[in-house]
Amino acid sequence: MKENKYEFRYEVFDDISGLNEKDSRLLTKARDITINAYAPYSHFHVGAVAILENGEIMAGTNQENASYPVGICAERVLLGSVATLHPDIPIETIAVSYSAENISSDHPISPCGMCRQALLEYETRFHKPIRLILSGQTGKVFVIKSAGLLLPLAFTSEELG
Ligand code: THU
Repeated sequence: MKENKYEFRYEVFDDISGLNEKDSRLLTKARDITINAYAPYSHFHVGAVAILENGEIMAGTNQENASYPVGICAERVLLGSVATLHPDIPIETIAVSYSAENISSDHPISPCGMCRQALLEYETRFHKPIRLILSGQTGKVFVIKSAGLLLPLAFTSEELG
């Protein structure tokens, strides 16, 4: 028997002021776009904003539904839009933030399992890592070099032959 170990490194900033201007602008947009989320059931408003390799910026927000499982996370709304409108341009970085009515938004959230799988597929499709910038409306900021790092031992298309 041998034991494998998985670990990854990510950057932690005390707040947005530690970021360079480009990253700071992206995170500010993610914070601001949470206002366009449709989250009447969870009251948890998520914004995801991507900068593409050509400098284009696109946003997504979570869109819920009275039939709860129909709701879609901000990250997958974003990926669907980018893939449709800019099918040939890789994503460089995605910033994710949130705001909530009764919960303070003072720490980062990270993508749910389903979004991790979707982000990984996007990375493998374009052979390019997607950087993540994660933060609430205030407080610490996490920067992760590649979304795929969040999904060890992932199931990928390679298994399908
Ligand atoms: N949500 C996202 O949009 N992205 C995440 O990273 C975590 C969760 C949404 C799904 C649902 O509409 C609400 O947040 C509460 O789970």
